[in-house]
Amino acid sequence: MNILLGVTGGIAAYKALNLVRLYRKAGHEVQVVMTDSAQAFVAPLSFQALSGHPVRTELFDPEQEAGMDHIALARWADVLVIAPATANVLAKLSAGLADDLLTTLVLACDRPLVVAPAMNRVMWQQPVTQQNLQALQARGITVVPPGEGEQACGETGEGRLAEETAIVTATESVQSALSGSSKPKNDQAWLKTQAFLQGKQVLITVGPTQEPIDPVRFLGNRSSGRMGFALAQAASEAGANVTLIAGPVALPTPAGVRRVDVATAQQMFDAVQAEFAQTDVLIGAAAVADYRVAEPAEQKLKKSPDADELTLKLIKNPDIIGWAGEQKAQNGGKGPILVGFAAETENLEAHARTKLQTKQLDMICANQVGDKLGFDQPDNALTLITAEHTRHLTRSDKADQARQLLQVLLEWQADLKF
Ligand code: C5P
Repeated sequence: MNILLGVTGGIAAYKALNLVRLYRKAGHEVQVVMTDSAQAFVAPLSFQALSGHPVRTELFDPEQEAGMDHIALARWADVLVIAPATANVLAKLSAGLADDLLTTLVLACDRPLVVAPAMNRVMWQQPVTQQNLQALQARGITVVPPGEGEQACGETGEGRLAEETAIVTATESVQSALSGSSKPKNDQAWLKTQAFLQGKQVLITVGPTQEPIDPVRFLGNRSSGRMGFALAQAASEAGANVTLIAGPVALPTPAGVRRVDVATAQQMFDAVQAEFAQTDVLIGAAAVADYRVAEPAEQKLKKSPDADELTLKLIKNPDIIGWAGEQKAQNGGKGPILVGFAAETENLEAHARTKLQTKQLDMICANQVGDKLGFDQPDNALTLITAEHTRHLTRSDKADQARQLLQVLLEWQADLKF
């Protein structure tokens, strides 16, 4: 798991070094943020050496802001831990202040927060400190209470930092309570993907379309929209501005994603055209109906007592991603990266390659359907194909496939002339 550890300025700051060691030993990634006063107790370099990551200390760091600003850092984290947490930082958190990097991160981060207070026993017992703690607990923040014993100041009482092992246990139990955390395992690759997608406009078509036959009936398909929603979530977590053009699906919109609901292919096409000029990456994950009913009936069709057959005349729908390919070609190859999907029941790669060419796409994601993979399944096993590369992803859940897809896009971006 990705742990963002805030270290504040108490004598117990040195114990946070051991905490980093224990987290790493347990297989977690740790990035450390130190307040100004914490640096008076322990040098950032010590945390850097133990965590394997540069330590962040400044809210406005010109060298860091371009690639990994505080929002990206907040998104990277699965859990935020502040240990030791001084009376001062507890008060700031309770009031919602954001006057340095750490407190700003707390406000910018929607992940669980664990605080392990450490301070002199009198400071700990102050009613205001206890009120601040209660306020934090009432907001769902996990407090690892301090222990009793000899204190650095020479007094004996309650206020010394909890055992580091207890903080590790609290952190891990908060994480296991998180359902379906969708954070990537390969952090380095993911950090690069974040840098690549930061601030980019990503447009994703998703779900089935419904083509009306009459006011109550339609032609549809089995697309669940899960792959497109997983892509939207992954791209958003990587810092992109994501817009979903969603056919009728009952999935919750991932946090931070803008969603435009449509029903028919034509409506989806109109919505894509309206967004196209501002788009950096267009992913066509929708299962768009190739044909629609030429003239949907205005009233509900009645069963005829003497006709055993009913013929519907279908006409072709616009090919949305094909139109985008056409636009890009007409513009001398300038325009968004175009990623399509090819859901096939046979000759997967061959059909996918043909679509890559005819639709003039940059990448196609071939998707075997019909054998318990693909539509309406939690897992997938995509084959990613460009003119120059092919990559088979091993079967995994769609959240993982989505992240891998974005990582591969980054890997191949030079060839895609992004
Ligand atoms: O032609 P086919 O439907 O197999 O192509 C699949 C790819 O094309 C998908 O990316 C799908 O979202 C996109 N598509 C589209 N508009 C259509 C049909 C398919 O954007 N009318």
